Amino acid sequence: MAEHLILSHITKAERYAELLPQLKALVSYERNAVANMANIASALRMAFGFFWVGFYLVEGQELVLGPFQGDIACTRIPCGRGVCGTAWAKAATQLVPDVEAFPGHIACSSSSRSEIVVPIKDAQGQVLGVIDVDSDQLDDFDEVDALHLEAIAELVAQCLR
Ligand code: SME
Repeated sequence: MAEHLILSHITKAERYAELLPQLKALVSYERNAVANMANIASALRMAFGFFWVGFYLVEGQELVLGPFQGDIACTRIPCGRGVCGTAWAKAATQLVPDVEAFPGHIACSSSSRSEIVVPIKDAQGQVLGVIDVDSDQLDDFDEVDALHLEAIAELVAQCLR
């Protein structure tokens, strides 16, 4: 497998575009979903310097913490709770420019200011988990992040099959 990433482009969209085929190549060599999610979390952190990036996976009526990069985080989130639980319940990406303005936001870190959570869905649209990215800056995510993280979520869904 490739043991390093090539990250040359400057804009965020270009960097995501450069990263996605490398992530596809990375996971194509490995069948274990945890190993693949661990490398994807690391690659996203390397590419964008995210404050916190990781996965929560559906287990019964809760999301359970999966591979991540960043500070220790809450391990279980009920369906419908917080930004992650809302992304699961609505099966839709949640873009949160100011976490303090999001009712029920779960503050794993007091430094977190904005957040994006993207559902990982199977072919039937059932949510298998979420990708959660946090920033210590307000309003740090936009539609470019949503679009590309949704493509990465599709890749992760294939790993979870
Ligand atoms: N803030 C999230 C909880 C997970 S941590 O950010 C890692 C939420 O409200 O669901």
